[in-house]
Amino acid sequence: MLVILKRDDEEISLQAAQLIASAVHRKPALALGLATGRTMVGVYKHLVGLHKQGSLDFSRVVTFNLDEYLGLSHAHRQSFHHFMQQNLFAHVNVNPRNIHIPDGTIRGNYDRYCASYEEAIRKAGGIDLQLLGIGRNGHVGFNEPTSSLGSRTRLKVLSQETMDDNSKFFALGEESPRCAITMGIGTILEARKILLLAAGAAKSAAVAKSIEGPIASAVSASALQLHPDVTFIIDDAAASQLTQRDYYRRVLEMTALLTPDRLS
Ligand code: GLP
Repeated sequence: MLVILKRDDEEISLQAAQLIASAVHRKPALALGLATGRTMVGVYKHLVGLHKQGSLDFSRVVTFNLDEYLGLSHAHRQSFHHFMQQNLFAHVNVNPRNIHIPDGTIRGNYDRYCASYEEAIRKAGGIDLQLLGIGRNGHVGFNEPTSSLGSRTRLKVLSQETMDDNSKFFALGEESPRCAITMGIGTILEARKILLLAAGAAKSAAVAKSIEGPIASAVSASALQLHPDVTFIIDDAAASQLTQRDYYRRVLEMTALLTPDRLS
């Protein structure tokens, strides 16, 4: 597990975008797992910038989003479909046929639909690089506390904390979604490489539990400790409750010296 400490959101986004861009340069048909949320906005802005400068080609990239709210149309401004169009897909040359986002408009047959999402990931050869944010309660995707660490893509009931966090983005009187379709923790752990980004003090407890706490279903992101190639990129505020910050800095220095490939 590599922990990269950055000053702020801007530095996090830049570093993450650079890592994603090098992964695409190394493998143009990269299967890229994508995430939504405020933390991702800067990352996508940098990826769009690199594409516009002509140094990043998405034409063969295949994307899989982590999750989507149940019951929102693709055009709803809070849907993750809309978020991805606005922030990334409308501005780069990704082939629409290569875009996969869980469909929150399905009604019934959820298990069958979720199995087909998993099948699409398998057919693409598995996810090469998965981008993750983290919820205040330690969720990744919408794997709320007590999600099984072996869970697969499925319909998930949102926690009260997540609904409260989200309700401010919905219009007054509009009910925010109570369920979502999300990749499971087992699904996420099968990605070959994982990048988790976190910014801001509100994430500091979740970050500390995920990196330094015991592996527990109460903090879904702690399951990442089981993954052989995970990099956390976090800012000072989100890192404030970590007890081993000096050690992470030394590991990073030595990594840059001895195994620089891990940082590019
Ligand atoms: C939602 C998404 C998560 C994301 C989290 C954090 O809950 N399902 O994938 O990590 O939001 O979002 P933000 O970056 O806005 O804090």
